[in-house]
Amino acid sequence: MSLTAIILAAGKGTRMKSDKPKGLHPVCGIPIVELIVRAAIEAGAEKPIVVVGHGGDQVVKALGDRCDYAWQHDPQGTGHAAQQTLPFLEDLEGAVIVAPGDTPLLDADVFSRLASVHGQNRNHCTIATAILPDATGYGRVIRDPQTGLATAIVEHKDSTDEQRAVREVNSAVYCFDVKTLRELLPQLSNDNVQGEFYLTDVIKMIVERGGRCEALPFDDDAILVGVNDRWQLALAAKELRVRILRKHALNGVSIVDPDSTYIEPDVLIGPDTIIEPGTIIEGRTVIGRNCVIGPNTKVQNSSVGDECLVLMSHLSRATLLTGARCGPFANLRPGAVLGPRVKVGNFVEVKNAVLEEGVAVSHLSYIGDGSVGADTNIGAGTIFCNYDGFAKHRTEIGSGAFIGSNSTLVAPVTIGNGAMIAAGSVITRDVPDQALAVGRSRQETKEEWAQRWRTSKMAAQTGTE
Ligand code: UD1
Ligand code: CA
Repeated sequence: MSLTAIILAAGKGTRMKSDKPKGLHPVCGIPIVELIVRAAIEAGAEKPIVVVGHGGDQVVKALGDRCDYAWQHDPQGTGHAAQQTLPFLEDLEGAVIVAPGDTPLLDADVFSRLASVHGQNRNHCTIATAILPDATGYGRVIRDPQTGLATAIVEHKDSTDEQRAVREVNSAVYCFDVKTLRELLPQLSNDNVQGEFYLTDVIKMIVERGGRCEALPFDDDAILVGVNDRWQLALAAKELRVRILRKHALNGVSIVDPDSTYIEPDVLIGPDTIIEPGTIIEGRTVIGRNCVIGPNTKVQNSSVGDECLVLMSHLSRATLLTGARCGPFANLRPGAVLGPRVKVGNFVEVKNAVLEEGVAVSHLSYIGDGSVGADTNIGAGTIFCNYDGFAKHRTEIGSGAFIGSNSTLVAPVTIGNGAMIAAGSVITRDVPDQALAVGRSRQETKEEWAQRWRTSKMAAQTGTE
């Protein structure tokens, strides 16, 4: 059976105190509304229909052509929002999920369970509900005492004392029969305390025509976690973060300290990898098996192979192949590629440079815009001078070379296989294979000079006293 999804995201979100529409505020790096769109797509809805209003252009830009968009320029309630999707529902059959656009913890499992119960029981509407100790503010689910089926949802403001005592609440996530929804949406009225068109009124209309509405309680209150202000945003992020960490832990990743570990939803990590405290892993980062990442490390959109060690470092769009290691205090910037077993040590910055298998850059270096062949050793304090103030130039070093400490390689420059650079050299011209280049002034040693100098100084001092 085909599944459609409608996501209501036209609400203004005034309490966020933001220029940005509410749905675009990120939770663990992903905009709230995108998390819901992804969940809907994962549950089988091909092209979710997103109702947009305030700041809608930004939402359309962020979500792109994954979704269809229905505009609601003057929000008049959830029913009015749903009415704007009618043109998209015209020829559809099967089931349609409707969900709010500000509940970031909704996941594909919630939608799938709702849709599957809906189909099995041939319901016209299935409502995801939760039982709360304090239901204040929520729509109450009224059930038929005989059948247990839902007969209505009554909004808090419209409810009687007896209805207010009900603790089962509407989560605002539903599954409807498309045809039924299409027929009933145009018949909604706004004759209620808030003067709004309530989507929830569809329930009693279905029951009046002899249809079947089932209230399906969920144990997990997370379906209700809506974001209205920045504090709720922070709390939702905290909860999603724990869920992400738990998922990795159950997949065989050691999370040493969940309180100080931040991993975004798209990150993949192999089993037996250890994530040490104070580690932040973002974007589309992929990490292999048997690695140790952290402590105090940030990894963004990078690819780390198996058996790598990333200690107190910052990685952004970097690639580490099997057994590579970096840190403490390495800065691997976009285009840094560390081949197998490469070792990058403390205070080393690598940008747009490929270090082939077994290269060692152990201390205090800048490796920018270049390539370094296998097993080359780069001494402490080596600098690739890649920038002349106007353009960037490349430094190419062959394999098995040895760059002495504190060398300055002025690009563009090429250093051959097996070549050696004397420590402290400034290299401005190419060095052929197997050659030695010394680019510094020759040392001069003056015998006894120091002793003579001190003696003359001391003599001058006693003379003036
Ligand atoms: C709604 C339900 C209530 C339920 C509660 C759960 C109705 C009438 N009531 O109430 O039963 O317990 O959710 O949180 O549906 N939106 C629009 N356009 C509008 C109005 C709302 O797009 O004109 C969107 C909002 O952006 C939001 C979602 O619909 O994402 C829910 O709207 P909200 O105002 O929060 O509904 P509630 O009144 O809280
Ligand atoms: Ca709400």
